[in-house]
Amino acid sequence: MKVGFLVCIWFVLCGCCMGRFVVEKNSLRVTSPDSIKEVYECAIGNFGVPQYGGTMVGNVMYPKTNQKSCKNFSDFDVFYKSKPGGMPVFLLVDRGDCFFTLKAWNAQQAGAGAILVADDRVEPLITMDTPEEEDAKADYLQDITIPSALISKSLGDSIKKELSKGEMVNINLDWREALPHPDDRVEYEFWTNSNDECGPKCESQREFVKHFKGAAQILEQKGYTQFSPHYITWYCPEAFILSKQCKSQCINHGRYCDPDPEQDFSKGYDGKDVVLQNLRQACFFKVANESGKPWLWWDYVTDFAIRCPMKEKKYTKECADQVIKSLGFDVKQIEKCVGDPEADTDNPVLKAEQDTQIGKGARGDVTILPTLIINNRQYRGKLDKGAVLKAICSGFEETTEPAICLTEEIETNECLESNGGCWQDKAANITACQDTFRGRVCECPVVQGVKFVGDGYTHCEASGALRCEINNGGCWKGTQNGRAYSACIDDHTKGCKCPPGFKGDGVNSCEGM
Ligand SMILES: *[C@@H]1O[C@H](CO)[C@@H](O)[C@H](O)[C@H]1NC(C)=O
Ligand SMILES: *[C@@H]1O[C@H](CO)[C@@H](O)[C@H](O)[C@H]1NC(C)=O
Ligand SMILES: *[C@@H]1O[C@H](CO)[C@@H](O)[C@H](O)[C@H]1NC(C)=O
Repeated sequence: MKVGFLVCIWFVLCGCCMGRFVVEKNSLRVTSPDSIKEVYECAIGNFGVPQYGGTMVGNVMYPKTNQKSCKNFSDFDVFYKSKPGGMPVFLLVDRGDCFFTLKAWNAQQAGAGAILVADDRVEPLITMDTPEEEDAKADYLQDITIPSALISKSLGDSIKKELSKGEMVNINLDWREALPHPDDRVEYEFWTNSNDECGPKCESQREFVKHFKGAAQILEQKGYTQFSPHYITWYCPEAFILSKQCKSQCINHGRYCDPDPEQDFSKGYDGKDVVLQNLRQACFFKVANESGKPWLWWDYVTDFAIRCPMKEKKYTKECADQVIKSLGFDVKQIEKCVGDPEADTDNPVLKAEQDTQIGKGARGDVTILPTLIINNRQYRGKLDKGAVLKAICSGFEETTEPAICLTEEIETNECLESNGGCWQDKAANITACQDTFRGRVCECPVVQGVKFVGDGYTHCEASGALRCEINNGGCWKGTQNGRAYSACIDDHTKGCKCPPGFKGDGVNSCEGM
């Protein structure tokens, strides 16, 4: 009964705000066959790991059985793992019958590199999200790493038609333009919640904050990012303000409400406790930002999650105050910002939050928690340190990205395999392959001050005055009658030339005449 009423109230509360939800689209390019070669739109799923800043090329396959990917492919003895050196398989599956996340998980387990879900009706693209229900089997949600995209019914149909004719369908998924990257600072918002009893979604938020904290703090301290945390609240409909439900879920006379964390009014903490702790976190950010150290918010929320969990009945003001003090802040300043929760007046911080919740420009309303907004675009994908850092890094104008974007943790490791397809001189241990967060690049290197020039793929050649210093400029050298000879000439000329009196190609051999 109770829960029934609650759901009903929530429907009313949420109903008002389900305004605009912007679907993040990015481009999917069919590169072959010619008949359907074109750039199409697709919608990135809200799970898996999109390759922000990068591209992915693959070969489409459509299963003969289990076309909705609702069952484990191993039950049918089919696998989609490409052989080493082969293109990843983009598994095309049909919408319907089970959660998008289950489809993705089954595709991933079968070895697919990405999943394309073909819509089953003609409609504008929607964002595929993780299931909300707590009892939805969520143990695999965190393990989905392949990117996923929803494509229109018509594109799905054309691909299937080509496949049935025996055509090979190649696709290039491109995330490079998925986020705007106007300048050398990335603005991002994180919509979160202090509630730790909401199941897998809360777990994943907490884990994310814990892992991302270090990177977030470095980026913020060095001025590369401007971060702000945000909290969603709802207002209680006028007619319900005096109801028991709104009284337990709201503060400031029904102005700011959150759902009951256990969805049961009779036990544990109430919605209004959550609103208050959220407000305290928002106030902590405000005060920390005013003192010039906004990054301390990350410490506050991680410490609070560890020290003041609901499970241990420590989700209290006293516990929060201890965390505030331990970070060197004055509890009174935070209290002043929190104000009187019983007062029939606006709270400026929460009022501003409610206004920000409503979408502006390219960004839709924020209705899903957690939500990450980068350069005013909704991030889609798994909340994972590496994935989010990639997304933030792709928000910088190229060449202005900070060092953290180029560190090992988020760079790809494509150079390890076949040298990423780039030029290399194995003998001299010189390679043109560089792993970056944008994926591997083949660029002729600079070695000990000597610049190599070339296309980076098939050749690189030492250039400039010192070129013979490195591996003898790639030229032959040898001794004859106790005298050393070299086919490299240390001036600005290119290439190799056997010394006078010798004959040969200058690279592999020069023979004395
Ligand atoms: C599904 O298949 C994968 C790999 O083929 C296997 O590891 C996994 O245990 C299977 N899951 C179930 C529930 O059968
Ligand atoms: C944080 O402080 C800076 C500088 O005082 C200000 O420009 C910025 O708007 C503040 N951020 C937020 C989210 O209030
Ligand atoms: C080649 O160079 C890399 C980096 O410059 C180094 O880590 C590696 O040990 C070198 N390998 C050999 C065989 O010298």
